[in-house]
Amino acid sequence: VQSGRVAVVTGANAGIGFEVARVLAAHGAAVVIACRDSSRGEAVAARIPGARVVTLDLASLASVQAAAAELREACARLDLLINNAGVMEVPHHVTEDGFELTLATNHLGHFALTGLVLDRLLATPGSRVVTVSSIAHRRGVLESPEPYDPSAAYARSKLANLLFTYELSRRLGAAGAATVALAAHPGIVRTGLWRTSSLVERALISRRVRFVNFWLAQDVEAGALPVLRAATDPAAGGGDYYGPSGPFGFTGRPARAESSALSHDRDAQRRLWELSEQLTGVVYSI
Ligand SMILES: NC(=O)c1ccc[n+]([C@@H]2O[C@H](COP(=O)([O-])OP(=O)(O)OC[C@H]3O[C@@H](n4cnc5c(N)ncnc54)[C@H](OP(=O)(O)O)[C@@H]3O)[C@@H](O)[C@H]2O)c1
Repeated sequence: VQSGRVAVVTGANAGIGFEVARVLAAHGAAVVIACRDSSRGEAVAARIPGARVVTLDLASLASVQAAAAELREACARLDLLINNAGVMEVPHHVTEDGFELTLATNHLGHFALTGLVLDRLLATPGSRVVTVSSIAHRRGVLESPEPYDPSAAYARSKLANLLFTYELSRRLGAAGAATVALAAHPGIVRTGLWRTSSLVERALISRRVRFVNFWLAQDVEAGALPVLRAATDPAAGGGDYYGPSGPFGFTGRPARAESSALSHDRDAQRRLWELSEQLTGVVYSI
């Protein structure tokens, strides 16, 4: 039961984020849809009882600051922050803040947003930050891919999601906070995320390729479950990582998942944290 709880879900106007918001609201949570196109957000909010919309473009620090200010104003408590929004394999683009678009959206925007609403989370007993990573994090390296490689940029941003989660979890623990940080990955899910992928990849996860896709990709309802489990399982704790339990973690029921050795590298976690503070100008209070 999520009654009386407030959940902010980034990228909740589509895909896995929408499903996570829908299910949390169905269990009583007051859901905030944080998305970059407010009219599309309002259209989606009309389908989720009690949902409200906050405009958030994670690729713009100014937008993240405005969204955080609005959230702080509107929410006296904040039980769940689901850092879900993301882009995959996009053409090279530098944001208005001078960052590569994938890292800006998937990691830096969420790093800044979380830091800017942290006091609300810390003031809410049992609150959680859930950040959505990917199996692709295993291909991620710390160095910036040169020349730009869309797939490597995505993998690196998803590694950053885990490095961030584990460092945040440790800092929260050291501060004796009642807030925990966890991560999840959805496996491989048929969503709009694949719109920029190759024709072959899109064909392979499509519903039409019936024989292989049972093992290869799952529907959005199943893909949302690891995120929902990280957000709500009473047995889940700081630093836990959930994903589908089937072959290669592509599909299946949500279970504890393993992440790469590099994601657990404390030096890498600390360095990413310090760099993220420098780049975003958001310095955490813990
Ligand atoms: N689908 C998969 O197979 C898969 C596998 C592993 C991990 N994931 C992860 O799951 C998460 C959700 O992806 P999805 O599959 O649900 O994809 P999706 O259907 O494409 O949804 C992505 C969401 O992120 C939002 N978004 C993108 N850029 C944004 C920005 N600058 N500011 C705010 N919101 C932004 C999108 O908004 P717009 O509608 O405005 O574009 C959309 O709401 C991502 O973190 C992704 O990396 C997905």
